[in-house]
Amino acid sequence: LQNVPLFQDLSAAELEEISPLFAERTFKKNTVLFVEGDPGEEFFLVQTGAVKVYRIDNAKEIILSLFREGDFFGEMALIQQGMRRSASVETLEDCSMYTLTRSDFQQFMERSPKLCLRLLEVTMERLRKANEQIYDLTFLDVRSRTVKMICRLSEQYGTPKPGGTLINMKLTHQQLANMVGTVRESVTKVLQDLQEDGIIAIDKKYILVKEPESLKKQIY
Ligand code: CMP
Repeated sequence: LQNVPLFQDLSAAELEEISPLFAERTFKKNTVLFVEGDPGEEFFLVQTGAVKVYRIDNAKEIILSLFREGDFFGEMALIQQGMRRSASVETLEDCSMYTLTRSDFQQFMERSPKLCLRLLEVTMERLRKANEQIYDLTFLDVRSRTVKMICRLSEQYGTPKPGGTLINMKLTHQQLANMVGTVRESVTKVLQDLQEDGIIAIDKKYILVKEPESLKKQIY
């Protein structure tokens, strides 16, 4: 747990105190962990794998966030008394998670100001991203939004490889479209154009950003 950013400021004693409270659980790919409106009983920490946070309206889906190793979710319904899950969460890969019950999570928050501060810090980062998403959806066209999403994914999940930065997250065009707020065909077109211009390459659904500077210049 000491490698988890949320716990980075905790002392060895505090880590020892919280570690036994976590249950380790595994979930297969494409498992819905909970849906929007469910009562919230658990806090989740991703040990391995990836999940999407999403909302659905008439079979249309908007992906609000992706989480990977070291990320946490499910804190909102636990912190806000009387509130339910604000969004649904589904695994994108086989996952291993640490979970904490509502009462253990609340007790530990009450005892650890450092944990609360860190939680607040991560929440602000998420609010910043949500503001950015509002800005993008209001002011940018689909092409720019798609390009910006690729830039962001590359910064968050990119690993340097010969020839560019590989986005270490397998996403379908439909999933990218659901993150950008558009239809699959539009994303496919943008990705094709970027490939033709030699800015990105795609191999087995993984995106390789070959020319990051040229990519950024495509945002208007
Ligand atoms: P909770 O409301 O309990 O269940 C859904 C979880 O998704 C929520 O807690 C947060 O952990 C996470 N979540 C909801 N909205 C966002 C968002 N806009 N950005 C990042 N994470 C979110």
